[in-house]
Amino acid sequence: MEIKSFETEHFFAQYEFNTPYQLCNSDCETVSTAELLDMADMSLDQLGGMRLGYTESMGNPHLREMIAAGYPKNVGVDDVFVLGTPVEGIYLAARAALNPGDEVVVLTPAYDALINMFEHVVGEDNVKKWAFVAGDGRWELHLDDLRALITPKTKMVVVNFPHNPTGYLPTPEQQAALVEIIEAHNLWLFYDEMYYGLVHSDTPEIPSACELSDRAIVLSGLSKTYGLPGLRTGWMVVRDPELRANIFNWKFYTSICPPAPSEFLAIAALRAREQLRLKNIEIIEKNLDLADQFFARHAELFTWRRPHAGSTALVGMNVPSTAAYSAKLAEDAGVLIQSAEMLGSDDRHIRMGFGRVAFGEALAKFEEYLLDQYK
Ligand SMILES: Cc1ncc(COP(=O)(O)O)c(C=O)c1O
Repeated sequence: MEIKSFETEHFFAQYEFNTPYQLCNSDCETVSTAELLDMADMSLDQLGGMRLGYTESMGNPHLREMIAAGYPKNVGVDDVFVLGTPVEGIYLAARAALNPGDEVVVLTPAYDALINMFEHVVGEDNVKKWAFVAGDGRWELHLDDLRALITPKTKMVVVNFPHNPTGYLPTPEQQAALVEIIEAHNLWLFYDEMYYGLVHSDTPEIPSACELSDRAIVLSGLSKTYGLPGLRTGWMVVRDPELRANIFNWKFYTSICPPAPSEFLAIAALRAREQLRLKNIEIIEKNLDLADQFFARHAELFTWRRPHAGSTALVGMNVPSTAAYSAKLAEDAGVLIQSAEMLGSDDRHIRMGFGRVAFGEALAKFEEYLLDQYK
């Protein structure tokens, strides 16, 4: 069976470890193992003494309790299971909940897998795109556009909030309306919450979708908000017992059980979750201030729609092809920006990421390059 090329991951495989100035990472600043254990008041000796046998396939019970405690309403520990990697959850949900010929509505642009994996399972023509609208100074989402895409064959709506790449977070009213729509049509709501909790000052927080509906299939993990993508720790919250059992069966074909050292360190991460989250929000807000100033100085080249949540933004760029531009920029100046074409946007937009401490230095290099070109 065909599957489209995973462009974002090919792009990072090519550039992430050899391009010194990075402006498009979606994860936040990481910490060392020793720093993490210190924050969590745990010791390296405990890690050293850990035995490396198979682990419980639903995940370590203590870790699952800690995850469930993050969803104060309507979620129990039995609804939570730990994945081998966060991205695995997209595959498992698509396989377990859908059949060829079902229709799926996907919010776009999106992290590639949120489009490609569903197209792979139900067929490209059966995936309908619910697109963000470019408003004045901000991205907009219209629920009537979603309503218009639902047909009697629709089985699932796929969303991701806080959103990569626009940095959009629905209002509490929009979130409630979204849940009402999927419940009225008895649809599954695949809700990617990989950036959960990354909410900027002055933006109202919203509850997790799994607290609002048992039709929600929530994907979350430690990669983005907590800056720990190297742990590869993700989890799902699935309240529907039949669907959960079906997903769980698929998981035996992909990862069986989570890696033991990652589970140990994931417990440490959840003990320090507020500290990690607040540290990363602070980094993002500082970098967004730098971005505001940068875009004000280069208003002829960029269209800046400031994000309200998450770690990324979708930025318009006035060049013929952002894909060609970014390849040349990486080669000439060692600065990495990502064309948003690979996220289902177009070749006139880029994704930028604000979660890393080195963002300011990379932005200064980019500006040096831009000014050199105008000389
Ligand atoms: C929206 C979204 N979902 C899922 C993932 C996958 O997370 P991970 O790379 O930790 O598996 C990403 C990674 O960029 C993402 O942006």
